Amino acid sequence: MKFKQSIKTLFIAGALLGAATSQAAEVEVLHYWTSGGEAKSVAELKKMMEAKGIAWKDFAVAGGGGENAMTALKARVMAGSAPTAAQIKGPSIQEWGQEGVLANIDSAAAEGQWDASLPKVVSAVMKYKGHYVAAPVNVHRVNWLWVNPEVLKKAGAKVPTNWDEFFAAAEKIKNAGMIAVAHGGQPWQDATVFESVALGVGGADFYKKAFVQLDQATLTSPTMVKAFDTLGKIKTYIDKDAAGRDWNLATAMVINGKAGMQFMGDWAKGEFTAAGKKPGTDFLCLAAPGTDKAFTFNIDSMAMFKVKGDEQQKAQLTLASRIMSPEFQEVFNLNKGSIPARAGVSRAKFDSCATRSMDDMDASSKNGGLVPSWAHGMAMMSATQGAMVDVIAKFMNSNMSSQDAVRALAKAAKTK
Ligand code: BGC
Repeated sequence: MKFKQSIKTLFIAGALLGAATSQAAEVEVLHYWTSGGEAKSVAELKKMMEAKGIAWKDFAVAGGGGENAMTALKARVMAGSAPTAAQIKGPSIQEWGQEGVLANIDSAAAEGQWDASLPKVVSAVMKYKGHYVAAPVNVHRVNWLWVNPEVLKKAGAKVPTNWDEFFAAAEKIKNAGMIAVAHGGQPWQDATVFESVALGVGGADFYKKAFVQLDQATLTSPTMVKAFDTLGKIKTYIDKDAAGRDWNLATAMVINGKAGMQFMGDWAKGEFTAAGKKPGTDFLCLAAPGTDKAFTFNIDSMAMFKVKGDEQQKAQLTLASRIMSPEFQEVFNLNKGSIPARAGVSRAKFDSCATRSMDDMDASSKNGGLVPSWAHGMAMMSATQGAMVDVIAKFMNSNMSSQDAVRALAKAAKTK
């Protein structure tokens, strides 16, 4: 009920008042890209808007995964001052569309031929009732394991390709006095790890049945118990100071050799890149154990809110056009660690992790392995996702058994 309760009754005020208007062309953009790599990425959009004579009002709300940002957004819409655009994605775009607060940006989409440049699965998510209301910026892959090869070497461990090898490597790293798994104890990070574990343990069909169809039998199956058992085992390789740690600080532990491995989406690569590290030598991007044929996608997008005044509406359409331009999609994604959402962007400047991501996305879309990241808002409505994330976090922070976790997860999946 999270989304509905907080918005439904209050949005009307916001919609009627419209966004705050000011004279000069300006866009106010809500996002949660505040880590080193993320900030570099969004700075490129600011530069492009300023080059068009449009002022950029930054509405950055720190907090990985975006929960804080969504709370701030709801407050602003309720107060009648929605920003020009906000980083909203997946089924949530439909939820906001239903509130009647999103702007129609079809004219930018027609001019830029978005229908022809985006895969149908992506363009469908960007539309509400057949009209574009959001522009995609990228495709992140979530099922990665980031590894510091130097740490493996010091520990006498080999690069893991399956769960047995993963745990063998973790044990060696731990015995060598280093942290095996860098992690931040925040609910969304817990869910990020669990999502890759479930995919690796159960495979893509299992994943889809459990997290897309929310099938009760799959959610309570022995495979799901095994997924929690595996997560429980991973827990024993996380350091005791993980509680509350931000994801990018966990990535920094891998970068500086304090820790060996991290399960995280490829926004983590943005941190390696910002630190001047090179894939293949300074760090490795591996598919999480058991997931090399699959790809959990997480598409960031900017949803556009109704704004008042010709000048502001024009500025908003310019923002949408810039976001979908090949130049922006290239430079943004080089910094962000993701790959372009649209076709027609050269691969030339992308590193080996990114080109692997491009190839794997393509291959997995043909073999049935392309699945939406539920931990990152791609698979289910926000209330259901929130309830399921809470279960994973509880499992991570207590002695809850795998059997109890499975029962709680299946119950949470019924949340509407
Ligand atoms: C977003 C990324 C962001 C990450 C960490 C994900 O949900 O899709 O763009 O970098 O969270 O905040």
